[in-house]
Amino acid sequence: MGAATDIEARMRGYYAQRAATYERVYFKPERQADLRALEASLPPLFAGRRVLEVACGTGWWTLHGARDAQAWLATDINPETMALARSKPLPACVQFETVDAYSFEPLAGRSFDGAFAGCWWSHVPLARLAPWLQLLHERLEPGARVVMLDNSFVQASNLPITRRDVEGNTYQQRRLDDGSVHEVLKNFPTREAAFAALGARARDPQWTACGHYWVLSYDLC
Ligand SMILES: C[S@@+](CC[C@H](N)C(=O)[O-])C[C@H]1O[C@@H](n2cnc3c(N)ncnc32)[C@H](O)[C@@H]1O
Repeated sequence: MGAATDIEARMRGYYAQRAATYERVYFKPERQADLRALEASLPPLFAGRRVLEVACGTGWWTLHGARDAQAWLATDINPETMALARSKPLPACVQFETVDAYSFEPLAGRSFDGAFAGCWWSHVPLARLAPWLQLLHERLEPGARVVMLDNSFVQASNLPITRRDVEGNTYQQRRLDDGSVHEVLKNFPTREAAFAALGARARDPQWTACGHYWVLSYDLC
């Protein structure tokens, strides 16, 4: 894929700066029931698999997804977020590696039979979504299981959308504790739009909308 766009580079910097306070988002009271249900749903989806986790951040989902996996490679571009993930009591199968999800370069020659990304899809520019999925699928074996989960737009829980660009990407203005304000690309896909991006190898995609989150899962042929 091409060089990172300005918005992608800014997103990388934003999450590095936000790392220490990132998990506040997981303590919003109105999201707790959904979170518990999602956490409980992950282990069986990856039981016995060798999984690539994209953009693992502070490892909130790693803890749950990796529980019964055979091997779990948690990747992110930012050492700041992965340092927090590494400090958690994670299953022994978890390893970490710094990887840019737009190239997967360090993973050349390696393959997996599972892939997971939490709250990453929403940050991929719409024009890059299908090529990014194709790149991910190139790292995955036939029969691999892919699971993505991300935020649904819920008026009272999400920041408002402040801008929509010509390609249809939507943006939010986010303020960090130091007072800095960041424009962050955050898309809220429909089931149909998500399915349309998956490509020819995706089999029997499933979409579950559960309140504050959506989950997309499929296997690859
Ligand atoms: C919204 S957070 C999601 C973190 C975690 N998966 C979760 O759901 O809690 C987005 C993550 O993407 C990472 N990130 C940003 N740009 C990236 C890139 N080009 N490649 C890999 N990770 C990236 C950030 O460091 C951040 O940890």
